[in-house]
Amino acid sequence: MIWRGLFAPLVLIGLLTACTKSNNGEQALQNQIDSLKTKLENAYKPGFGDFMGKVQTRHSKLWFAGVNENWELAEFEMHELEEVIEDIRTVYPNREETQSLPIIEPSLETVNNAIKQRDAEVFKKGYLTLTNACNSCHQATKVEFIKIKTPTIPPYSNQDFMKLVNNDRIE
Ligand code: HEC
Repeated sequence: MIWRGLFAPLVLIGLLTACTKSNNGEQALQNQIDSLKTKLENAYKPGFGDFMGKVQTRHSKLWFAGVNENWELAEFEMHELEEVIEDIRTVYPNREETQSLPIIEPSLETVNNAIKQRDAEVFKKGYLTLTNACNSCHQATKVEFIKIKTPTIPPYSNQDFMKLVNNDRIE
């Protein structure tokens, strides 16, 4: 009899503790989620202009790779350029400027095809369409004062843009 009398309250206490425990657990999880959210919101994100700085470097290196018929490097630089553009899409999906990114797509295709042809003259023509697309987008996004042109000197003096021939450099 005494067992019965004790049993019900014990079960009740047990259930209540389990409940509070899981409530506590949920609250702890929610707190963690909230703190992660705040961290994410405050995390450093490169600005649109920072990404453009990267695009600028790739655009310049691409030229020196192409005119030196270093097609492997040209392919690499194109790949990197396309990656930066994808990063812009990921980091700034809702920015108004991002909606103008498709302006550059056809010229990327043109340059990729030119590189496949392994012909410096075809490459130069393709490169011009790319540079024009940069400027078209700058006009569309009201930064037309940022004018892009074919570079005349390599962006870095510590990189050799010449192609490798049988693993020997052409000097
Ligand atoms: C979406 C359209 C768009 C395309 C395509 C685009 N840009 Fe830009 N670019 C911008 C915008 C918008 C800014 C201004 C960013 C800001 O507000 O900080 C900018 C800024 C720049 C800057 C100034 C950043 C600095 O650090 O001085 C350079 C350089 C630049 N772009 C180069 C290029 C090159 C090279 C290409 C082509 C390969 C290109 N952009 C293609 C929209 C574009």
